[in-house]
Amino acid sequence: MAITPLPITDDTRVLVLTGAGVSAESGIPTFRDANGLWESHRVEDVASPEGWAADKTLVWRFYGARRDAAARCAPNRAHLALAALERRLGDRFLLVTQNVDGLHHRAGSQRLVEIHGALFQSRCDTCDRDPFADTETYASGVRSCELCHRGFIRPHIVWFGEHLDVDHLARVETFVSDARGHPFVYVAVGTSGLVYPAAGIVSVARRAGAETWLQNLDVADNADDFDHVVTGKAGEVLPTLLGVGDEVNS
Ligand code: OAD
Repeated sequence: MAITPLPITDDTRVLVLTGAGVSAESGIPTFRDANGLWESHRVEDVASPEGWAADKTLVWRFYGARRDAAARCAPNRAHLALAALERRLGDRFLLVTQNVDGLHHRAGSQRLVEIHGALFQSRCDTCDRDPFADTETYASGVRSCELCHRGFIRPHIVWFGEHLDVDHLARVETFVSDARGHPFVYVAVGTSGLVYPAAGIVSVARRAGAETWLQNLDVADNADDFDHVVTGKAGEVLPTLLGVGDEVNS
């Protein structure tokens, strides 16, 4: 099927939401591909405050394995296409991702909001020190916080049952309200549309006048919320859909 590029003019604002599907072609399995299981554990049991309280070593085994796997992967054409569009649009572009793998950052995206956290950052589970860059896998054991000496170092990930950072949500809201009255395009890529509040951004954007697009391998659960649906692999579809095929191919 021929892909028509999005209607992007010199005044268009573009807001993009990405999910696990965008990293699938880099070799990172999507959340639901693995049936929500890791080894025989439910992901909710290792990615939650309850899981952390019960077994910190197990939680770090899970995130250590994810750090190892993500470090071996490289950004694909979908990540590169989004970075190329940002270079063209500057502040008229914002990328919101549910992915924690860091691949958007490695592809060059800068106007990036990682709403579910960042795999290669850690923080203390007790004191309010800033999150810090961290590639450790903690295979030899969990580390206590050298600043407060009370807490333990944990992944900087928004776990099941935890709240999203209010500053991140505010950044998305500000972008949407600034886009009002301008040509505005919203694109969701590679996300099943099951997890809120991310799955609700389409309605917020639409109320602000956005023309809305869904690009996914198959028809996602909230496909009816979108004006246009383009099925296919993100790495194959996005360079053309975003009108940056030449930059990604060069
Ligand atoms: P899912 O695994 O739920 O959905 C991934 C979507 O990507 C599916 O609809 C696939 O059809 C689609 N897909 C797979 N390969 C693709 C490709 N090559 N190109 C385009 N689409 C493709 O992942 P998310 O929607 O990201 O939250 O899941 C949202 C959140 O659910 C995750 O961030 C995670 C989980 O709860 C937390 O960890 C907090």
